[in-house]
Amino acid sequence: MKREQWGSRFGFIMAAAGSAVGLGNIWKFPYLAGTQGGGAFLAVYLVFMATIGAALIMAEIAIGRSAKKNPVGAFRLLGGGLWSVTGMIGVITGFLILSYYSVVGGWTVAYLLKSVAGTIETTKPDLLEAQFSGLVSAVLEPILYHGVFMVLTIGIVIAGVAQGIERSVKILMPLLFILLIVLVVRSVTLPGAWEGIEFFLVPDWSQVNGEMLRAALGQAFFSLSLGMGAMITYGSYLDKGADIPNASCWVVFLAALVGVLGGLLVLPAVFAFGMDPGAGPGLTFITLPAVFGEMIGGYLFQVIFFAMLLIAALTSSISLLAIPVAYFAEEYGIERKWSAIVVGIVIFLIGIPCSLALGIWGEYKLFGMNFFDLMVYAVDYYTLPIGGILTSLFAGWVVLEKMRKELSNDGSLTFRWIGAFTWIMRIVAPLAVTWVMLSALFGERLAAIWVMLSGLLWN
Ligand code: TRP
Repeated sequence: MKREQWGSRFGFIMAAAGSAVGLGNIWKFPYLAGTQGGGAFLAVYLVFMATIGAALIMAEIAIGRSAKKNPVGAFRLLGGGLWSVTGMIGVITGFLILSYYSVVGGWTVAYLLKSVAGTIETTKPDLLEAQFSGLVSAVLEPILYHGVFMVLTIGIVIAGVAQGIERSVKILMPLLFILLIVLVVRSVTLPGAWEGIEFFLVPDWSQVNGEMLRAALGQAFFSLSLGMGAMITYGSYLDKGADIPNASCWVVFLAALVGVLGGLLVLPAVFAFGMDPGAGPGLTFITLPAVFGEMIGGYLFQVIFFAMLLIAALTSSISLLAIPVAYFAEEYGIERKWSAIVVGIVIFLIGIPCSLALGIWGEYKLFGMNFFDLMVYAVDYYTLPIGGILTSLFAGWVVLEKMRKELSNDGSLTFRWIGAFTWIMRIVAPLAVTWVMLSALFGERLAAIWVMLSGLLWN
């Protein structure tokens, strides 16, 4: 069977940007910026995106296109049997992320329906809080919405790479940008918005600390869908003529732009109505509806907002599902359609305990965490960083020649940053991610050693 391909350069960029731009950029980024010191967090995040993020996304796309295989097959073909473990970590991570991502995706379905029905039109944060925790801790309702979200995801993936994924993202992504811009214009023109804009855009460098660096690098990874073979999978459907560095820069730019716009949408509005920017994960589902409730035309903006959030979540979930689907289809010859259905059902089933963990199963804990938090933790602290470290070492040390050829299309393009790319892959990214990972696991003790060491070096 002939391997599928993207129909156009625009289609590929929209698909990759769609994978990158998701709940991470619109839901997580603003609340991280809100809790981690605003402008300084934004600055550090952008630096990570433009350096390690950009280099690693190029490497992943190049690995995919060079091998024309799913992540496991790609690492095996290019690096031999042992390296295929890296691809395997990616496939497993795809399962893990999608099972909780889809639960949150289900909440966006629920909130879109509720906002259309007008049932979350209130200005009272207490009521909204009760409504939100009522939804997430219920038994059947969130599982039902999680199921709806999975069905939508499976449907698009079954239709295929060009016919399903590409066709939908080519409509959904521009729509997302239009909706986002409408909302940002509304938010920054609110009386009192300036304080929020300032908080978000003007760095206060005293806010920089280890925890914030960790959060910013983790967010750069997550928001570019790196470290788990998503971009390898999408890159594997890319044609030989495509300019990988250029396409990668577009994806990084678009993902960063949506983060910035997401921040400009949420934070000014939150400040304008005197709410707390450090509200954390509830910012999107509790604080923001209260803000909409205060606005003239809030009903409409609320509907637009949750429609946009759902679109962002969907264009990411289809790429998450596409990873294991490609794996089972290629490694075991299972038809794409059945692969999507079976994998989708398994993910739906793993999602059920994730959802219940926020309600009736909340008291069942492993390592002190409920099942939902455990999944998030395993991904954020282990599988994504390890996947990222292995991928960059692989690109920098094992297949560097192949990377050179892919990034310059066999010398027919000039890729000026190859030197920077090489050293980021070989040294900078593995060290930075290792440091971030260890400091997250061992916390302050390591930070103290670090400060001591750098003190010795500088004196
Ligand atoms: N980038 C997505 C977001 O910001 C989340 C994500 C992480 C992802 N890894 C992925 C999406 C892999 C698709 C594939 O929400």
